[in-house]
Amino acid sequence: MRAAPGPWASDRCAQAIAAQRPGHALSRELYCNADLFEREVQRLILRHWHCAGHQSQVREPGDFFTIDICGESLIIVCAQDRRVHALHNVCRHRGSRVCTEPAGHARGGMFVCPYHAWSYGLDGGLRAARHMPAGFDRSAYGLKPLHTKVMDGLIFVSLAETPLGLEHVEAALAGSARIYGWAQAKVAHRATYAVNANWKLAVENYMECYHCGPAHAEYSRFHLYARPAALNREADERVRQRARTLGLTIEELDRWGLNARPGQEAAGSVRSALADGAVSGSEDGRPLAPLMGQFPDYDGGVTFFDVGLTSSFLAYPDHGLIYRFIPRTVHSTDMEVIWLVRDDARISVDYDLERLTWLWKVTSVADKRIIELNQQGINSRFYEPGPYSPMEQHTRHFVEWVLAELR
Ligand code: FES
Ligand SMILES: [Fe+2]
Repeated sequence: MRAAPGPWASDRCAQAIAAQRPGHALSRELYCNADLFEREVQRLILRHWHCAGHQSQVREPGDFFTIDICGESLIIVCAQDRRVHALHNVCRHRGSRVCTEPAGHARGGMFVCPYHAWSYGLDGGLRAARHMPAGFDRSAYGLKPLHTKVMDGLIFVSLAETPLGLEHVEAALAGSARIYGWAQAKVAHRATYAVNANWKLAVENYMECYHCGPAHAEYSRFHLYARPAALNREADERVRQRARTLGLTIEELDRWGLNARPGQEAAGSVRSALADGAVSGSEDGRPLAPLMGQFPDYDGGVTFFDVGLTSSFLAYPDHGLIYRFIPRTVHSTDMEVIWLVRDDARISVDYDLERLTWLWKVTSVADKRIIELNQQGINSRFYEPGPYSPMEQHTRHFVEWVLAELR
C-alpha cells in the first residue's frame, strides 16, 4: 500500500484547497504538488472505475493485454470460461512483474513469472511453484484479482476493495452505447499520447470546447459542439428528437453533477449535432465505416458519454472512440485513444484506416500540445488562476468535484 501523505504535506494541500477561488482555474499547488497527487491517487483514482479497453482485445481464452494505472500494472485476460478477469501483475512469491508483454496470448493458458517460474492460470490461480515444501498451500497465492465488469463491450476495472456501484453506469450505457452496438464492435486502431502535464489538465481540456475554435480547426468544421450552446439550440434539439426515436436516452447532465448519487459511480452523456451535411467525424463529414448497431441511417449527431474520472467515449453512427486518461505522475499523463468499428467491417474494404483515424489523431496531437503549454505556464511562480468562461462549465464542475472529493 502507498504511504499516506505526511501531516506537513496534507496541511499545504488542505490550505491550497481551502484557498481555491470559486469559478477560477486551480492554483499552481494543485497541479504541481506530488503529495497532493498521491492523495488524489488514494482518494480518487483507486476508488473509481476505469475503462481498460474493449472486450474484442481479449476474444479467446488466453488473450491478454496489460495496462498501467498510476504505476499499478494490471493484466486483463480472457479466462477458460471466457470471462474477462483483471489481475495485479505482481508475483505472489517475491513480487516480480509476471507478464512483461503489452498484449498477447498466454502460452499453455499460463502466466509464468520470469524470476523463479511460479505459474499462474488465466484466472490468476497459482498452478505450480517449483521446489516449494510439502504442505505449501498454492490456493493462498493466486495473483490478486480486481473488480472487473464488462458492459456493452467495454471492460471496466476498479482497484477499490469495495467498489462504487455500477447500476447508474449500466443505465447510462443502455441509453447511449447499446444502440451503437458496441458489444459487437472491434478495435480498429489504438494510439497513446504521452502528455507532460498533470492528469487534471488533460481531463479539464477534454471537458470543454472553448479551446476548439482556436486549437481544432479540423474538429470545429463539422462539430457544432465547438460553438456556444446558444447558437446550436435548434440543431441540437433536432438530433435529440431523432435520438429519442432511436431509443437513446440522453440525460443532458454532466457526470460530475450525477456523482451526487451516494456510493454510485458517476456517468453522464451529451448529445450534439454535426454541421449540415456532415454525418461522421471525418475530414470531409462523409461516412467512414458501416453503420453500427441498430442505426438505420446516419442521423447527423454524435453522442458523448463519460464514466467515472478517466473514461470518456464518443459514438458516431459508423464508428466509436474510447478516450482513456491515465495518470502516471504529478506531471505525466497518458491519453489512449481506441477506435471501434463494427465487428464484421473489413479494413481497406469497408473502411480506410487513415480516414477513420484522421480526425482524432490531429485533435489529440493538438490537445497534447495545448495541455503541455498549459502545464508549462502553470509552473510559473507568476501564474495566477483566471475565471472560467460559460463554455467551460463541465470543466468547472469537474474541478469543483475533484476538490470536494479531496476535502
Ligand atoms: S518472484 Fe515470481 S517466482 Fe519468484
Ligand atoms: Fe481538444
